[in-house]
Amino acid sequence: MKILVVGSGGREHAIAWRLANDPVRHELYCAPGNAGTAAVAINVPVGAEDVGAIAKWARENNPDLVVVGPEAPLVKGLVDELTKLGIPSFGPVAAGARMEGSKRFAKEVMRAAGVPTGMAEVFTDPVAAKAALAKFGLPVVIKADGLAAGKGVVVAETAAEAEAAIDDMLVANKFGAAGAEVLVEEFLDGEECSILAMTDGENVVLLPSSQDHKRIFDGDKGPNTGGMGAYSPAPVVTADMLPEIKDKIVVPVVRELKKRGIVYRGILYAGLMIAPQGGKVALSGSRINVVEFNARFGDPETEAVLPRLGGDFSKALLHAATGRLEDGDIVVKDEVAATVIVASGGYPGSYEKGKPISGLERAGEVATVFHCGTKKGENGETVTSGGRVLSVTGCGANLREAVDRAYAGVARVSFDGMFYRRDIAHRAFERG
Ligand code: AMP
Ligand code: GLY
Repeated sequence: MKILVVGSGGREHAIAWRLANDPVRHELYCAPGNAGTAAVAINVPVGAEDVGAIAKWARENNPDLVVVGPEAPLVKGLVDELTKLGIPSFGPVAAGARMEGSKRFAKEVMRAAGVPTGMAEVFTDPVAAKAALAKFGLPVVIKADGLAAGKGVVVAETAAEAEAAIDDMLVANKFGAAGAEVLVEEFLDGEECSILAMTDGENVVLLPSSQDHKRIFDGDKGPNTGGMGAYSPAPVVTADMLPEIKDKIVVPVVRELKKRGIVYRGILYAGLMIAPQGGKVALSGSRINVVEFNARFGDPETEAVLPRLGGDFSKALLHAATGRLEDGDIVVKDEVAATVIVASGGYPGSYEKGKPISGLERAGEVATVFHCGTKKGENGETVTSGGRVLSVTGCGANLREAVDRAYAGVARVSFDGMFYRRDIAHRAFERG
């Protein structure tokens, strides 16, 4: 098949790499891609968010399938445009991407579908929002409705913190339009995990579970990032939970969207909170609650999940894009995977770019190295071009083996200022 992958991060490299490992040969393109995708696909110099330019490329090159990585082009309606051209596309239409783009919309859909999630109220008036705080107790969660680059959520431990967050969003307009509406939400206690559900708008297949590491420093300290590592499966998700997650969370959402005229195709990523044994029960009464939905593959979860998939991945993606998804389309190998993000010093704050990276080939001998923020320098060398630079994945018969292989790979790469967490998968190890 001729396939275009849209995006330029570790997620897109992992998608292109997995497709390159299919039993059938594909003609692969990546827009715009990075130095890593260039090894498995032809990079097309078109920005991932330039909907018009991607649609033009697709019209001229007529791919059999377009796989959209990031949320921004989905929210901007790339899949709507491609669908008009008759090109099968993996990813929801703009109306479906609102599950990620608007937390208020996601809550409405969940309420209508009876899906367990934190109780929440929506406000545009700061006085009313503050008056409601008492009802929620502490901690309490304050969220901007729209996309705010992962910074629009404040878990407030005190009323003063909650009030300051409300003022930031509704008075100071810190997030612009994204923060024009604010959710005050029940705090959910427990451990988080990610479930990437593949759907064709009707049928749903869950990919293996995973867990992300959002904070920059070991021990989950410091500011939030896009994700500093992941592993799959996540032992917090036990086998008995999977049917519940599928039948009580993902399927009802997909059905509710369909009822509203939205055929949701692609990945519905459920960020879930699993309540601790004997801990505080959520108001929903359920031990599994939705924290958020994303309209795409997670990053770096994808770099830990896709290496575990066998079979013909292109078939699964095409079937989801064309309404023919079946259980057998996803084949999971009996392997565990862990991925460690190698970042630029200073990330998630400011950092330098253009640092030459050495040891990539040697790292590739012991682990799979996905590029997140790299490009080719003037002399053809690979240089850093982002905060998250590499995602180094190890696979093994068990988590220890997988993590050791990932870190063995990390030990072989180096660039000026490189930084990474040393405790990826610590929660799983603590469980024993
Ligand atoms: P979100 O952007 O909705 O994924 O929120 C970012 C992070 O904030 C989540 O990954 C959680 O760690 C935390 N969070 C969001 N909502 C809640 C909640 N209701 N209770 C506890 N933590 C939350
Ligand atoms: N790893 C979190 C995300 O992709 O949103």
